Amino acid sequence: MSKAPIQLAPSPLPCTRRAALLGAGACFLTAHSALAQPIPNLDVPYVPTPQQVVDRMLEIAKVSGKDFVMDLGCGDGRMLVTAATKFGARGFGVDLNPVRIREATENAARANVADKVKFEVKNLFDTQIKDADVLTMYLLPSVNMQLRPRILSEMKPGSRIVSHAFNMEDWDPDQRENVDGREVFFWIVPTKLEGKWTIVDGGSKIALDLKQTFQRLEGGAESGAAKGKAQGRIAGQEVRLSVALNGETKIYAGRVSGDKLVPIAGDGAAGWSGNRG
Ligand SMILES: C[S@@+](CC[C@H](N)C(=O)[O-])C[C@H]1O[C@@H](n2cnc3c(N)ncnc32)[C@H](O)[C@@H]1O
Repeated sequence: MSKAPIQLAPSPLPCTRRAALLGAGACFLTAHSALAQPIPNLDVPYVPTPQQVVDRMLEIAKVSGKDFVMDLGCGDGRMLVTAATKFGARGFGVDLNPVRIREATENAARANVADKVKFEVKNLFDTQIKDADVLTMYLLPSVNMQLRPRILSEMKPGSRIVSHAFNMEDWDPDQRENVDGREVFFWIVPTKLEGKWTIVDGGSKIALDLKQTFQRLEGGAESGAAKGKAQGRIAGQEVRLSVALNGETKIYAGRVSGDKLVPIAGDGAAGWSGNRG
């Protein structure tokens, strides 16, 4: 990796506050060849993720050769170069700073993965994210929150998001880990399950009316005259529902396939089927 000096550009946050938020004592301007170019108005200053944190973020997201990984604000490209060299993934990174993109492109060529990872000078807010299997971010809380509605509406259910240092407020992470003093947050984009579902389990029909908050489900369950409660958690396209009726609690673990819930073999109740409506 090239060791580029940290370069900060005008931002809505004061310098010390921005560096403190990013968890590094990185708030200084250095002489740099890039100063000859116009300094882009960055939403986040450049502070690279330490390599051991990069490695662990990609492990947590279970990146593999099947994945297309995107890094929004890619810096010197270390996240995607590592995704390609260690995990065989393809990648696309954007950064507003042309100096970072030049470094990233050089780093990819040096690591012999220029065919797998591409970098482009582009604003992350103008970048399509729908094709990413994994999205990596080391941004700021406000930027994460601006991206959150797009992540939830544009990305495929089951896509994974891994963020260094910053969460997405009330969207609880599916996993959280402290890596060498750095917080790493991981989410799986949940499929949309809100609404009415019917589970047919042996001779009984259970009507569910579910409310969804991110990956959490909660609602009513009815079977004949009996009224009860349903609670659940979605992980991508899989759901684990706990239905309490007639003093008994049953677990229904299924995979969403269109308007159907298909039981996951060996997990929870067997011999049931679920349908929307
Ligand atoms: C904290 S650094 C993270 C770099 C890299 N992802 C890593 O983890 O090492 C944030 C990066 O976002 C870039 N950036 C800031 N605002 C941006 C924007 N609106 N669009 C694209 N990149 C941006 C900065 O130039 C910087 O390289």
